[in-house]
Amino acid sequence: MHPMLTIAVKAARRAGGIINHAAQNLDLLHVSRKAHNDFVSEVDGAAEDAIIRMLLDAYPNHTILAEESGARGDQDKSEYQWIIDPLDGTTNFLHGFPQYSVSIALMHKGVLTQAVVYDPFSNELFTASRGRGAYLNDHRLRVSKRTQLADCLIGTGFPFREFSHVDAYLAMLKDIMPRTSGIRRPGSAALDLAYVAAGRCDGFWELGLAPWDMAAGCLLITEAGGLVGDLEGNATYLKSGHIVAGNPKIFGQLLQVIAPHLTKALKA
Ligand code: IPD
Ligand code: CA
Ligand code: CA
Repeated sequence: MHPMLTIAVKAARRAGGIINHAAQNLDLLHVSRKAHNDFVSEVDGAAEDAIIRMLLDAYPNHTILAEESGARGDQDKSEYQWIIDPLDGTTNFLHGFPQYSVSIALMHKGVLTQAVVYDPFSNELFTASRGRGAYLNDHRLRVSKRTQLADCLIGTGFPFREFSHVDAYLAMLKDIMPRTSGIRRPGSAALDLAYVAAGRCDGFWELGLAPWDMAAGCLLITEAGGLVGDLEGNATYLKSGHIVAGNPKIFGQLLQVIAPHLTKALKA
């Protein structure tokens, strides 16, 4: 394993330990909404701090982009940036719905090079290094081989915080839904993308994601032989936050169904 990936895996497991520990006390904390909210930010923050500490201990000059604490480090002085979501799927976590993950990616000179998505509930560790493939624990991952959308299970994420694209999204959903064998909204974008890499879903799309939701999952998919793009299939997805992914055949078919529903605001 690449040494930088080894550190990222250690950090993800450390964060996973914090999340698992906190998950045991969810019931108690559900009693009070304030405590409940504080609790979550505590978990998010504690997991993120643990990750950052571990990464910076090993690589003090690297820069960081993390969901809770934002950007740190001087990008002019380092070619490396870690992109971190310490707990992806907070709403699920709050409800004890066991579908959430830790996501850590490394960008080198603007190119994703290392990726970890860790599901602490199931202890599934998804990893990828650029040019060296994607793995689930010790097993090499390949995207699915399905060629017809009609046979496919497609993952997605519904808007739930920000609704500016909800009409366009629902038009896409309405058009995609009857053409597939099923749609899933599991609730952790990073894990959803890992599932595409693992062939558990044949494709995925979502609007309005942040870089830390996507970065690691995207490298997993491309290293597993899949494709990732924005809503027009281009490479700007980390910037736009709008993403389509899938095995190569299904990626193209999803883009075709989505195309008529692109509003001006959704185009690059
Ligand atoms: C969210 C999850 C969810 C997606 C949201 C994200 P968070 O991340 O990935 O699946 O639909 O857009 O914000 O807030 O739980 O880290
Ligand atoms: Ca997230
Ligand atoms: Ca998060």
